[in-house]
Amino acid sequence: MIKKSVFIPIIAFSLFISLLIIGCASEKPKLIIPNDSELSPELLEGKKLVEERCTVCHSTDKIYSEVEDRAGWEKYVDNMIKRGAKLNTEERGKVLDYLTSLKRI
Ligand code: HEC
Repeated sequence: MIKKSVFIPIIAFSLFISLLIIGCASEKPKLIIPNDSELSPELLEGKKLVEERCTVCHSTDKIYSEVEDRAGWEKYVDNMIKRGAKLNTEERGKVLDYLTSLKRI
């Protein structure tokens, strides 16, 4: 028979490992920012717009630290347009297509 004194540390260790795995799995997702060469011409236009028009007041880090679906990005982008970001309707669409296309880790 296995002694209790051996059994308890084994259970404690297994529990610790499980919690570690759960902890890592639920970590906040991050965006993967593609290189220009990996993007279709349309999405590249969106990326360039983000890099030119969205970096007047803050860096792209502030943008890429958010992970959103299209509706979420629309809220942010419209909020930024209200604050003074220069995007016409067509450019807004390209920025949204690009931001929505970003994959997550
Ligand atoms: C006119 C200045 C200005 C421009 C241009 C601008 N932003 Fe911002 N943005 C701000 C300010 C100011 C904040 C900080 C607001 C806050 O922390 O409450 C911010 C914060 C953000 C945040 C983070 C929000 C948060 O809760 O921390 C995101 C995402 C963002 N901007 C996206 C964009 C995108 C995308 C564009 C381009 C379409 C853009 N911004 C262009 C002024 C601007």
